Amino acid sequence: MANLYLVLLHISLTFVLTQSAPRNSLVTNLPGFNGSLHSKHYAGYVTVDEQHGKNLYYYFVESEGNSSKDPVVLWLNGGPGCSSFDGFVYENGPFNFEKPTTKGALPKLQVNPYSWSKVSNIIYLDSPVGVGFSYSKNVSDYNTGDAQTALDTHTFLFKWFELYPEFLANPLFIAGESYAGVYVPTLADKIVQGIEAGTKPKLNFKGYMVGNPVADEKFDGNALVPFAHGMGLISDEIFEDTTRECNGTFYETSSVKCENLLNKIEKVIQKLDIYNILEPCYHNGGEEENKKSDSKLPLSFRQLGKTEKSLPVRKRMFGRAWPYKAIVKDGYVLSWPQLTSNIGGAPRCYDDEVANVWLNNGKVRKAIHTVQKNVVPSWYLCTGQLKYKHDLGSMVPYHKKLTSKGYRALIYSGDHDMCIPYTGTQAWTRSIGYKIVDEWRPWLVNDQVAGYIQGYANNFTFLTVKGSGHTVPEYKPQESLYFYKQFVNGLRI
Ligand SMILES: *[C@@H]1O[C@H](CO)[C@@H](O)[C@H](O)[C@H]1NC(C)=O
Ligand SMILES: *[C@@H]1O[C@H](CO)[C@@H](O)[C@H](O)[C@H]1NC(C)=O
Ligand SMILES: *[C@@H]1O[C@H](CO)[C@@H](O)[C@H](O)[C@H]1NC(C)=O
Ligand SMILES: *[C@@H]1O[C@H](CO)[C@@H](O)[C@H](O)[C@H]1NC(C)=O
Ligand SMILES: *[C@@H]1O[C@H](CO)[C@@H](O)[C@H](O)[C@H]1NC(C)=O
Repeated sequence: MANLYLVLLHISLTFVLTQSAPRNSLVTNLPGFNGSLHSKHYAGYVTVDEQHGKNLYYYFVESEGNSSKDPVVLWLNGGPGCSSFDGFVYENGPFNFEKPTTKGALPKLQVNPYSWSKVSNIIYLDSPVGVGFSYSKNVSDYNTGDAQTALDTHTFLFKWFELYPEFLANPLFIAGESYAGVYVPTLADKIVQGIEAGTKPKLNFKGYMVGNPVADEKFDGNALVPFAHGMGLISDEIFEDTTRECNGTFYETSSVKCENLLNKIEKVIQKLDIYNILEPCYHNGGEEENKKSDSKLPLSFRQLGKTEKSLPVRKRMFGRAWPYKAIVKDGYVLSWPQLTSNIGGAPRCYDDEVANVWLNNGKVRKAIHTVQKNVVPSWYLCTGQLKYKHDLGSMVPYHKKLTSKGYRALIYSGDHDMCIPYTGTQAWTRSIGYKIVDEWRPWLVNDQVAGYIQGYANNFTFLTVKGSGHTVPEYKPQESLYFYKQFVNGLRI
């Protein structure tokens, strides 16, 4: 009897330990892609709250290297409200999406040689619920904030590892950009609290990275004026007057003179693409202009956005840009519809057309295991249905706490992003006060300077990516794959 029990126990343990990824989540074909996938892809939902019917959607790409030893990375786009398919389609995903020549046709998917899945297993998560393909049966869940989001993504991770236990032993990282500058450290904090409390299973958490991250109202709020000056967008006179009149605080002011100068600055920079000041932008035509096809543009203009991905980066906008003075501060964050209506003269410089066409195609939705259209009618790059509260304050103490405990962190900035300019990020990373162990120097890819880096004690690193906008892997795919690979492997960049 005892023996039989042991045998049964052994069988069930063996089963538990070797049980692998859920079969019905395997993605077997992808409309628009002609060929065989370079690694296994899985997609589906994880229910984080049974009672509410709260379901987070993920798309998981196994590593094309050695998936059993390569790290598992959770990737998050920001917003708040933007789908992580932004990253999958336009940034670090396994494919480049080629715009179809006929309207309404599916884009053609080509292999992205700089996909982050070359060196890691990567989970693209639509978070919080209400974003992308994630949804809740109780719409009160769309009124949310930082703390709830961190809680839900933490629950997600445990439930995800229940489905994919063979990845529990791999090193775990979390990464993201923009507003994920809040999601990432707050989730990391939850993970570390879990580890310290002995929560089982133990996550093999190693560290995190954030790109052009929202971090701190003061530092981010004060970043624009020095950035605009350093980039040659405002004169020395304007800079000096503003510095004097605003007394060094450029984001909130009670002085009329300061306010007037800030307005003057806004006026001279407002025709630029806030996400990449080097990119061309469209003006005056509003929505209609955004619907024009690329082919109507002169060739030289079309080629302005080319990268080594040999596809143009997005030059068009789906109807919004973050306004210059909408600094993220405590309390409700402006929703995308509010931003769009308040947008004034801000140009629309992003294009989400291929993502929209592909992700809203019925065959694609079926292939990637999304719910029916009566549950999530359509996919949006960024949703307007959230009411989102920034309720965990400055991220600087989180970074300090996590890195002082030995977790590795990389903070990177596309140096031509004016949305979260590197000037603010450099200032807050410095403010943590760690000793410099690797003094400011260029870092290289193919023997070319790809940006600058400063290494601090506690494996805390800040780097810039030369000539890149807000979405670094989109603008600089090869360079980003390089620093990503070095970082997750604990190697010098
Ligand atoms: C798919 O690839 C095969 C073999 O390379 C080729 O013969 C076929 O024309 C391709 N189909 C499309 C739709 O590109
Ligand atoms: C992958 O990594 C595992 C663990 O380090 C190792 O046992 C295995 O041989 C590797 N597989 C290949 C194909 O290199
Ligand atoms: C939705 O959730 C809220 C908050 O937990 C609860 O008060 C409400 O009753 C729920 N609504 C439904 C329809 O279950
Ligand atoms: C300017 O800032 C300094 C230091 O922060 C403060 O002491 C001073 O009162 C400020 N002056 C004005 C005019 O706001
Ligand atoms: C930095 O990380 C390496 C492993 O990647 C570790 O050996 C080292 O102790 C860390 N240094 C600090 C100061 O935490």
